[in-house]
Amino acid sequence: MKVTIIGAGNVGASCASLLAEKDIVNEIVLLDIRDKFAEGKSLDISQMFPIIGSNTHIIGKTNDYSKSKNSEVIIITCGIPRKPGMSRDDLVNTNAKIIHSVTKESIHFSPKAKFIIVSNPLDVMSYVTYLTAKVDSSRVIGMAGILDSARYRYFLSEELNCSPHDIQTLLLGGHGDTMVPLYRYTSISGIPIMEFISKEKNQIIIEKTKKGGEQIINLLGTSAWMAPSASVAQMVEAIIKDSKRILSCSVFLKGEYDLKDVYLGVPVMLGKSGIEKIIELKLNQEEKNLLKKSANHVKNMIKKLENFH
Ligand code: LAC
Repeated sequence: MKVTIIGAGNVGASCASLLAEKDIVNEIVLLDIRDKFAEGKSLDISQMFPIIGSNTHIIGKTNDYSKSKNSEVIIITCGIPRKPGMSRDDLVNTNAKIIHSVTKESIHFSPKAKFIIVSNPLDVMSYVTYLTAKVDSSRVIGMAGILDSARYRYFLSEELNCSPHDIQTLLLGGHGDTMVPLYRYTSISGIPIMEFISKEKNQIIIEKTKKGGEQIINLLGTSAWMAPSASVAQMVEAIIKDSKRILSCSVFLKGEYDLKDVYLGVPVMLGKSGIEKIIELKLNQEEKNLLKKSANHVKNMIKKLENFH
């Protein structure tokens, strides 16, 4: 079982180390464009293995895609991250060119791979990979819903003074200010969230969740990497173990939720083929309107895409 991670920056290197800690893949290939960077990162991560007890073999290479040959999963983390004051959307054309080029290189060596996209703007970059790889959309999946749900769960747990692990939720929409956390589908160990918090108080937490990425950028000067990496590792594990987990991911919609030709976050079943099922919830009018608004936002960004070929 082989996984390639493109981009050995904060997200890429943390993904490699979290996956190695899970000890669920035989081989991780870490690629980066910066000379000797991936080599250095992979050596440092490998030297944790005697301590943490991982049997993962990790190699780092500067821009040599042949090393990624026959990967089961390819994780795309490269591109420029946001700086304070930037929105994810400001990155669209710069990152589209980068994502197009790395997808082309990787699909050539791993024609059967599933792709997980982390680069921003997430939904649009997932679409760029889908167009470039020319594979079934079940194999190109954007990571955002797990991260955004995790932020919502964390902020709720802080407010309610309970374990974040016991909070379940689902989240729809694009990765950005138009994301749609679902109060109605949120519970603590199966107990509906409305028994713990009012809709008004919950709305404050939703607004905090929407700004969760920005809050970290303002504190650190660059975007988050620990929670994004943990989200990716969860997706890889679900695919590799074929565990049929139901998680929110950004996927290509072909009429589900009355939306098509757009990548957007919805609940899906993740297993060995990638997206095995898209789950359609019976939304109320308010939720439908919010989802439509989010889809329009992503579609407008797709329209801004210049020729990235
Ligand atoms: C964030 C970046 C990964 O939300 O988009 O932190």
